[in-house]
Amino acid sequence: MCGIFAYLNYMVPVKRQQILDILIGGLQRLEYRGYDSAGLAIDGGQGECQDNILIIKQKGKVAALQQEILEQKDIDKETPLLCHAGISHTRWATHGEPSPRNSHPHRSDDNNEFVVIHNGIITNYKDIKLFLEKKGYKFESESDTESIAKLIKHLHSCHKNNGVTFQKLVAETIQQLEGSFALVFKSTHYPGELVATRRGGPLLVGVRSKVQLATNAFPIIVSGGASQDGTYPDGKTVHPLMKQLSSDCTDGSDAMEYFFSSDASAVIEHTKQVIYLEDEDVAAVCNGKLNIHRATLDDSNVRELITVKMELEQIMKGNYSTFMQKEIFEQPESLVNTMRGRLNYEKGSVVLGGLKDHMGEIRRCRRLIMIACGTSFNSAVATRQIMEELTELPVMVELSSDFLDRRTPIFRDDVCFFISQSGETADTLMALKYCKEKGALNVGITNVVGSTISRETHCGVHVNAGPEIGVASTKAYTSQIATLIMFALTLCEDRISMTDRRKEIMRGLHELPEKIEKVLLLDERIKEIAEELIHERSLLVMGRGYNFSTCIEGALKIKELSYMHSEGILCGELKHGPLAMLDPGMKVLMVCTKDRVYSKVLSGIQQVIARQGRPIVICNPDDNNVHDMAYKVIEVPQTVDCIQAILTVIPLQLLSFHLATKKGLNVDMPRNLAKSVTVE
Ligand code: UD1
Ligand code: M6R
Repeated sequence: MCGIFAYLNYMVPVKRQQILDILIGGLQRLEYRGYDSAGLAIDGGQGECQDNILIIKQKGKVAALQQEILEQKDIDKETPLLCHAGISHTRWATHGEPSPRNSHPHRSDDNNEFVVIHNGIITNYKDIKLFLEKKGYKFESESDTESIAKLIKHLHSCHKNNGVTFQKLVAETIQQLEGSFALVFKSTHYPGELVATRRGGPLLVGVRSKVQLATNAFPIIVSGGASQDGTYPDGKTVHPLMKQLSSDCTDGSDAMEYFFSSDASAVIEHTKQVIYLEDEDVAAVCNGKLNIHRATLDDSNVRELITVKMELEQIMKGNYSTFMQKEIFEQPESLVNTMRGRLNYEKGSVVLGGLKDHMGEIRRCRRLIMIACGTSFNSAVATRQIMEELTELPVMVELSSDFLDRRTPIFRDDVCFFISQSGETADTLMALKYCKEKGALNVGITNVVGSTISRETHCGVHVNAGPEIGVASTKAYTSQIATLIMFALTLCEDRISMTDRRKEIMRGLHELPEKIEKVLLLDERIKEIAEELIHERSLLVMGRGYNFSTCIEGALKIKELSYMHSEGILCGELKHGPLAMLDPGMKVLMVCTKDRVYSKVLSGIQQVIARQGRPIVICNPDDNNVHDMAYKVIEVPQTVDCIQAILTVIPLQLLSFHLATKKGLNVDMPRNLAKSVTVE
């Protein structure tokens, strides 16, 4: 998905080369989101003169953009610039093929008077384009974003040099836009300034200053309420940061740097102090001062400057070849982090801090609905049964897109769970907006603190799996399952009849990390199996009960990473169609662990071998029944039924990883996919 990164230095001398390095570094941190082209805009000119805007764009990886920059011999990269604003972008094609022409930044005209980077979709761009074409504007790309760059220039010309501020122009521009966006603007008319805004797309501002800031709360200026220098008409309220930066600052303490980004991973190496912007905020940096404007106030009259705890090492690969491999092997630890401070095995208690104030309301609800996409949806499938058992409530699982297509009836006494690793998935976010309108209690299960879903839900739980960079979700999935099981445990804590069951599950969760370590020891064996399966036409993954989630999640992993056809099949459905696919000698993956449906899955294995299929079975150790029938076995430790799916999915995560690696495919960034799907 598109990534935004911008950098502004004020009263801090920085060479163009360093500025380019900072911008490229930011884009590299955002690479994991998925993209197919990249670009940036900086001030051109020689020496300290910054008289024009230089745009450099390239199709493909950020490395290709870097090469393009190297080849630009006439850029003065050495003169330090005291004040400069640079913007950069990774694009994931939606309107128009990946090409330098369609890449961002987009510009208003040949003189690059206004340039803009955009994450999202402008749904009324055709109308805007038609309007502007009639005014004589010539468009050069197929992108919806170009209409924004041209629109702002048009609005600027309407003001006829009357001193309109950059912030006001941006506010006027977004009034005309429909759709979702995060935007950052730069202009030759406003050198050294940047204006950023969002509606639906994530955007944050990192702030770096030599001196301790006077405040952690940035007041919001309601448009028309403050003058350009940030003082209010009543003369009383002066932004505390501005006070500090007022003209009597002569000791260099007015030096400021700002970083605008789609997410914190690109900013934390520069600063941990960030402000998450809200929809309709217009954040403008002018004369080194940051102001946040809005047309009307929302729930809060300030934006907090918060300290991001994420460490850079957390998002590095460590000793692993890919982020995905690292994330698979991190699971013993990520699950400990998910349960830390929440599950107390000795005391037999589970407390989810984010939900404790809402438990009364949740207990009184009519039904629980889990809404998500992709892997996050599969975590809902994995936990539906234990939710039903422990809560004794009807539980629905919904794919966000289908849920919205059906306009599913939702009531005030429903509790809706929005499960999302990134917390930014567009379909899930829209489902959340829909449920909000219907008055349901909305609970987020997210991995990214500060993400839109985490902030827009009434309450929720952060799964705390740590940053997940590989596009394929692995550790977030197992942490989502553990979180949802913990939720089910909290809901039945006062049921005497469930005491033993609760204890059993808590013990299972407590022992989980060491059992995962044992599963990870299977890596070499699974690598050999991958070697054998690589030439198969299709991989069917069969099971039932709790392990059905492993079948659909395993098949999703195999598809997205190895590009092979794969399908998760419920064993109970075998006779109703899928059996016809079996050829003699065909290898089939099956999951059969010792739970309530064990004998039924054994009968499924029999059906497969009766057609000369060759089942490779994920089972519990020393299972002679399975050994007698299976072509090969992958043995994972036994655990409580509702937790077993966490252990059975890991071999399939490893299998998909090895299949992709053996095929020479990009494991962390499979083709056509993005980490964070912020468009429908
Ligand atoms: C919180 C702190 C954690 C601290 C712990 C100690 C955060 C992010 N977490 O963890 O650092 O160690 O208290 O008491 O500061 N929320 C949503 N939607 C979501 C996810 C969460 O609204 O999708 C809300 C929760 O309702 C809660 C807040 O975000 O108000 C933090 O949630 P969570 O991190 O899960 O809470 P704790 O585990 O208590
Ligand atoms: O960030 P989310 O969990 O909302 O993302 C939902 C899906 O796009 C995601 O789980 C996707 O299916 C994974 N890349 C699969 O590995």
